[in-house]
Amino acid sequence: MLAENLSDLFQRYLEFAYDGEQQIAKEMPRIIDAVSAAHLRTAFEHSTEQCGTHARRIEKVFACLDRAAAAETNHAIRSIMSESEKLIKHIDRSPLLDTALIILANELRHNEIVLYGALASLARLQGWGEIAGLLEQTLAEEKAADEALTNLAVNLINPEAVGFQNSPHGVVII
Ligand SMILES: [Fe+2]
Repeated sequence: MLAENLSDLFQRYLEFAYDGEQQIAKEMPRIIDAVSAAHLRTAFEHSTEQCGTHARRIEKVFACLDRAAAAETNHAIRSIMSESEKLIKHIDRSPLLDTALIILANELRHNEIVLYGALASLARLQGWGEIAGLLEQTLAEEKAADEALTNLAVNLINPEAVGFQNSPHGVVII
């Protein structure tokens, strides 16, 4: 039985969120290495730092519930990370790759926003005020980071990719 009640369901999605934070923290350095634009590198470095804070908050939530922290494979995040490996392998380091990686970073944030939004709501429903507060704090940070990435993409990163042509022999500008 995956879940018999809301509390079980909450725990299951908390485990997905915990695994997601861990996967992102582990994989981001590889993604940061592939970035060209300094602004994007800084944004990604900030994201990676946040993962540690978010994981610690999840551990506090487990502690509040008197349960040991546990992770359940977050396949959505795993799939996005596997796409990142393909992008880095097949697109030269360029504004085009930066554009692809920022789309991917938004996808990661969206997965986290869904999870934290649902978890915060379920915690409120069950009267777990302290837990809901912790999750709402993370949710607000995920939303702010998502918006910052979108602004960076629209105003700076995506326009740089216009006119670039990926080539097996390196990047050429049309
Ligand atoms: Fe996070």
